[in-house]
Amino acid sequence: MAKDNSLMDAIVSLCKRRGFVFQSSEIYGGLRGLWDYGPLGVELKRNIKEVWWRDMITTHDELAQPEGTPSTFQMVGIESSIIMHPRVWKTSGHYDLFADQMVDCRTCKSRFRADHVATSECPQKPSKCPGEHEACDLTEPRDFNLMFETYVGALRDEENKAFLRPETAQGMFVNFKNVMDSNRVKIPFGIAQQGKSFRNEITPRNFTFRTREFEQMEMEFFCHPDESPKWYTYWRDRRFKWYTDLGIDPAKLILRDHDADELSHYSVGTADVEYAFPFCDEGEFGELEGIAHRGDFDLRSHMEGKLVREGDKLVVEKGEDGKPKYPGSGKDMTILNEETKERYVPHVIEPAAGADRTVLAFICNAYNEETVTNDKGKEETRIVMKFHPRIAPYKVGVFPLLKNKPDLVAKAREVCTLLRPHMAVFYDEGGAIGRRYRRQDEAGTPFGVTIDFDTLGEQGDELKNTVTLRDRDTMEQTRMPIGELLAFLLEKIR
Ligand code: GAP
Repeated sequence: MAKDNSLMDAIVSLCKRRGFVFQSSEIYGGLRGLWDYGPLGVELKRNIKEVWWRDMITTHDELAQPEGTPSTFQMVGIESSIIMHPRVWKTSGHYDLFADQMVDCRTCKSRFRADHVATSECPQKPSKCPGEHEACDLTEPRDFNLMFETYVGALRDEENKAFLRPETAQGMFVNFKNVMDSNRVKIPFGIAQQGKSFRNEITPRNFTFRTREFEQMEMEFFCHPDESPKWYTYWRDRRFKWYTDLGIDPAKLILRDHDADELSHYSVGTADVEYAFPFCDEGEFGELEGIAHRGDFDLRSHMEGKLVREGDKLVVEKGEDGKPKYPGSGKDMTILNEETKERYVPHVIEPAAGADRTVLAFICNAYNEETVTNDKGKEETRIVMKFHPRIAPYKVGVFPLLKNKPDLVAKAREVCTLLRPHMAVFYDEGGAIGRRYRRQDEAGTPFGVTIDFDTLGEQGDELKNTVTLRDRDTMEQTRMPIGELLAFLLEKIR
C-alpha cells in the first residue's frame, strides 16, 4: 500500500470539518498526543466499543458455540480503577522495563526516541536536528519510563507516588481470584475490560494512532497450560475475523506472527492484527491489536514476585539482599483440578486492542471519494464514509422534502418519533435535498428517509404513507411503507 499523505490529509480534514476528531485544547494551541472526539466521533467510538462488548461478552453463548471452538467457555467483564497499587507495576515489570530509549539534543533541547534519531523532525527547523546537522549535540541514549506519575493523598513524596495505568490488563490479573470466587466461573474463561490507559509516548504521531491518553479493549483468557496452544489459535483467528465482519477491507488487514526476537521476555507467541493505514509506507502496516500467549507470567508474578528469564525458565528476580526484588502478593493464584487433583497456574491468552486505533482504522477504511453526476448533469466529487451500519454514528437521516410545508415537517417528525427509541436518528430540514443527502454521506449515515407529497397522499392513495428510502452506498432510492421502516432498519443495523 503506497504511503498517501494527501489521502491522510483529506481524512484528518474531514474529521475536523464534520466533528469526528478535534485537537485537544485547540484554542490554546493544542497539546501533543491528545485528541478529543466530536459529536460524530463519540457516537462512532461508543458504537465500536459497544459492538466489541456485545460480540465478545454479552451475546457470548457458551451453550451454542460455533464449530471449531476448542470447548465451552464463559466471558465476563470488569471495570478496574485507573490508579492501582504501585506494587502492581513493580511486579508486572512496568516499573523497571516499560521504557523507551531516548536521546536529548543539547542544542535544540528536544528529546527523541533513539530509534527515530535519523528520521525525526526537529521542532526547531531548519536546524535539521537531530543527528544530521553539525550543530547537533546528542546525549547517549537513556531509558525513559512511559508511565505518568501522580501522587495519592496530600503528601507529594516517594511513599505516595502512584501511576496512571499504561494498560488495562493488570486490572484483570489482580482480580482473577475475585472473579472466580464471586461468579462461579470455571477454567477456561475470559475477563474483559474497556478503559483509558496512559503512556507518556516520546513521539506521539499519525493523528490518533499513537497518543498519550487512549482507550483499550482487552481480554485475558485463562486456560489449562496444555490447552493454551489451541486457545491461542482460536483467539488469533476470531479477532481477525471480527474486523473483516465489520467491513474492514481484507486486502488491507494482516495477521502477523511476531518473530522470536520481537517477543516479550515472557511471551510464548504473539500475533498482531495490522491495518494498512494511509500514513504507512508501502508494504507497512500499523498495529490494531496484539493477541499474545502470555503463559503463566502474569498470575505467577502477582503471586511470587517480579519474574526474569534465566535460560529457558522464568524465576523471581532477587535484590542485592537475596530477597525478591519486587515481591508478589503472596495470594494463591493456582487452580485445583478436582478430578485429577492437579494444581496449576493457568496460562493466559490476551487479545489486546486499542479502541482509538480501531476507530481510526474504521474511519480510514470508510473514506471514499467518488465522481458522481449531480441534479444539473454536472460531475462532482462525493465524499462518502462507508461505515458498517452497526458502527455508523447515525443510522438514518430523516428529511421533510420542504421545510416550509407544515404537513411534511409534521410527518417527518412523526417518523423520527417512531425510530428514535431504537436507533440514532438525524433530522435535517435545511437546504436542497441533494445537499442534505451529501451531508449524511460524509457523516456515514447508511440510510436516508424522505417525506414528500406522495407520503401525504397528495398525488393519490397508492403511495400514501410511503417514504423514499435512500441507500448511502448505492444511492438507490426505493419506496417503502412507513409501517415497514422500523423492522427493515433494525434488521440492517443489528
Ligand atoms: N496488555 C497488553 C498491551 O497493552 P500493547 O500492544 O502495548 O499491549 C495493546 O497495547 C493495544 O493498545 C495496541 O495494539 C494499540 O491498539 C493500543 N495502544 C497501545 N499504545 C497506544 C498509544 N500510545 N496510542 C494509541 N493506542 C495505543
